Amino acid sequence: MERSTSGSTTKQSVAIHRQRRVWEARARNWNHHASNNEGLRTVVAAVIDTATTGLADGEPLGTVVDLGCGSGQLTLALAKRATKVLGVDVSASMLRELEQRAAAEGITNVECLVSPIERLSLPPGSVDIVVSNYALHHLRDPDKAVAVAAAARWLRPGGRLVIGDMMLGRGADAADRAVIADKVRQLARRGPGGWWRVAKNAVRFIVRIQERPLSRSAWVALVQRSGFVDVQASAVVHEAAVVSAVRAGSPTTEAARPADSASNAAAKATGDGASAPA
Ligand SMILES: C[S@@+](CC[C@H](N)C(=O)[O-])C[C@H]1O[C@@H](n2cnc3c(N)ncnc32)[C@H](O)[C@@H]1O
Repeated sequence: MERSTSGSTTKQSVAIHRQRRVWEARARNWNHHASNNEGLRTVVAAVIDTATTGLADGEPLGTVVDLGCGSGQLTLALAKRATKVLGVDVSASMLRELEQRAAAEGITNVECLVSPIERLSLPPGSVDIVVSNYALHHLRDPDKAVAVAAAARWLRPGGRLVIGDMMLGRGADAADRAVIADKVRQLARRGPGGWWRVAKNAVRFIVRIQERPLSRSAWVALVQRSGFVDVQASAVVHEAAVVSAVRAGSPTTEAARPADSASNAAAKATGDGASAPA
């Protein structure tokens, strides 16, 4: 028993180390890539739309946590309506990019925390919305489940979880097979460069080292198992989908919560001993 726990911890540490290395190297160019990639922009818009659905115009979002925030595609947009947004990322360089962008836009209610999602700890019931875009597929499957269960604890009753990500199984259902076939056709049309990418993606897909997507139905099941209700899933573009859910419990119990606890959530956040980048 002890051995399997420490084996799992070691695998988790290896996965975190790998993500940090990969994303430290990509941080400088990520913002340019993300803002010029129409597909990614569409998914970001879908996550924002889902996170704000049902709120009256101008109604504040409260405290938001963005898991794997990168250079802030979701963070900065949501900060304009939130009390505070805590951006969490394993890469300090990504967060430096985010801080620079926030400063350039005069946004002052964003806090950055360098931490693996797997090791993030926040006070229970202290968050209104947890969002994540294109980050959770990098986590190992057991760590995805732990992250979703943790999000259920951090959210206040009635709080919302919104995940945008590549949601693709390995071809077990027709929807997956259609997405895979479409992707292969698109890349193959580009000639030798595209064939090379098909081969590279196929290896990644099979080995699941860097990218470990789950199908939409697997995400729905995982979120339901963590005690969320009103779980909804919708396809966005290509392999991307958005899953949203509501933390069970009556929002009215929030009235009993100390008024400042939500807005202090970010201040009390802890990661793996790391702190916000200077
Ligand atoms: C594809 S980028 C997406 C960034 C941003 N959410 C966006 O929409 O542009 C993935 C991000 O997840 C972060 N990431 C990957 N694994 C992580 C982990 N285990 N913990 C925290 N962040 C992680 C990376 O550093 C990177 O910034």
